Amino acid sequence: MSVLESADPAIFDAISKEVARQNDGFELIASENFVSRAVLEAMGTPLTNKYAEGLPGKRYYGGCQFVDIAEELARERAKELFGCDWVNVQPHSGASANAAVYLTLLKPGDTFLGLDLSHGGHLTHGSPVNFSGILYHAEYYGVEAEGEMAGRIDMNRVREKAKEIQPKMISIGASAYSRDFDYEAFRSIADEVDAFLWMDMAHTAGLIAAGLLNDPLPHCHVVSTTTHKTLRGPRAGMILVGKDYENSFGKVAPKSGRIKMMSELFDSAVFPGIQGGPLMHVIASKAVAFGEALKPEFNSYAAQVIENATVMADEFVNLGYSVVSGGTDNHLCLIDLRSKGLTGKEAEAALQGAEITVNKNMVPFDDQSPFVTSGIRLGTPAMTTRGFGPDEFKSVVSLIDDVLTEATNADVQEKVRVEVSRMCQHFPLYDFVVA
Ligand SMILES: Cc1ncc(COP(=O)(O)O)c(C=O)c1O
Repeated sequence: MSVLESADPAIFDAISKEVARQNDGFELIASENFVSRAVLEAMGTPLTNKYAEGLPGKRYYGGCQFVDIAEELARERAKELFGCDWVNVQPHSGASANAAVYLTLLKPGDTFLGLDLSHGGHLTHGSPVNFSGILYHAEYYGVEAEGEMAGRIDMNRVREKAKEIQPKMISIGASAYSRDFDYEAFRSIADEVDAFLWMDMAHTAGLIAAGLLNDPLPHCHVVSTTTHKTLRGPRAGMILVGKDYENSFGKVAPKSGRIKMMSELFDSAVFPGIQGGPLMHVIASKAVAFGEALKPEFNSYAAQVIENATVMADEFVNLGYSVVSGGTDNHLCLIDLRSKGLTGKEAEAALQGAEITVNKNMVPFDDQSPFVTSGIRLGTPAMTTRGFGPDEFKSVVSLIDDVLTEATNADVQEKVRVEVSRMCQHFPLYDFVVA
C-alpha cells in the first residue's frame, strides 16, 4: 500500500481507518464477511483494465485469452460447488443478478409473489422503491403473527395467495429470515399455478454450498445469489440453473431454428440485457473464493457459522429477549426489541458506541418505520471467519446485553468497547493490508 499512501493520502487514510475499524470491532452484520488475502489480491489486479463483453471464447473484444481462463475457472468451480448445469458469474451484484432474472422471466406489469420486505424479504423482491416493484406487479406472502408457526412461513398461506393472484413467478429468499425454506412445497405451488420458481440464496449460498441447508437447485427454475455473504467471496452476484431446459417462450436460435435453452436467455439478460463489460478482476476473485469454498475447511467454517448463530439465539432467549421465530436454522437471528422498550435505531447507535456493528431491522408486523424499526439483525459469518466459536459468541451476547440494558450510558459503552477491542486482538484480521 506504500504507493497509494504517497499517491493519494486522503484515500489511503480512509482505507486505513476502515481496515482499523474492521480489525477492532465485532462485525455482526449478517450480510458481511471477511475475504481471504488471496481473494483480495485477485481483486486488486490489472484484470480491471480488460473489456470482455460476451462469454469465454465468444467475446466482442480481442485479447481475452487470459481473462477467459479466469472466467472459465469461476464457472467450473461454481458448477462443482452447487452441482448445477449452468452458471453466469458476470452479474456485478446481487441486485444485478436479480434484474437479469426478472428481465428473462417477466414482462413489465406481470404479477409475481415474493416475501414481504418487512417480514424478511429483500428490496429486489418487489419493494415499491425498487425496479422490481416499479416495473412489475408485486404481491407478497409473509410469516405468521402467532401460534406455533409465529415468525415462520406457512406454506398453506403461500398456496392460498398464489391461487388467488395467479403469479407468473414466485420468489423465495430473504435478507432477514432465520429459517430454512421448503423448496419442494414451493415448487408444487408454482406448478399448480403455472409459475416460475426463483430462489435468491444471497444470504445462505455458503451454507447451501456446504450442504447444511436444503438445496434449492433441484426445485427452482433459476437461482440467484450474491458471492460476498456466507459464500465469502468478493462483492458481486451470480445466476445458476440446476438442470438446464428449453425455454417456454418460443425463443429460437436465429440460424438453426433450434429452441434456445433457458440458460442462453439468462446469459443474454446479463449481457447485453442489463450490463456492459464484466468486472474481470472480480470474476477472477470469485474463482479464488469458489476454490476456497470447495475445500473441506469451508464446510467446517459453514457448520461453525450455524452453530455460533444457534448459540447466539439461545443466549438471547435465555436473557429474556424476543427472538423472531424463537431461534435460527442459519447464520442470523432477528431480535424484536419491543419488549425491551428500545427501537432498532437506538440499539444500533448504542452498540456502535461499543464498536459492535449490527443493523436495525424491521421485525414482522413492525409498528415503526424502516428508518427506526423495532429490531436488530445479527449474523455470525464475519466473526466466525475471524475464529470466534460458541464461547466467544456467548461473550458477544453478554456484552450486547450490557450495552442494551443501559442504552444511553456512555460509560458502559466505553467499558464494553475496551473488552471488544481486547477480544479482537486475540483474533487478528488484516494485519497485511495497512499497518
Ligand atoms: C436476498 C438478497 N438479495 C439480493 C441482495 C442484493 O445484493 P447486492 O447488495 O449485491 O446488490 C441482497 C443484499 O443484501 C440480499 O440480501
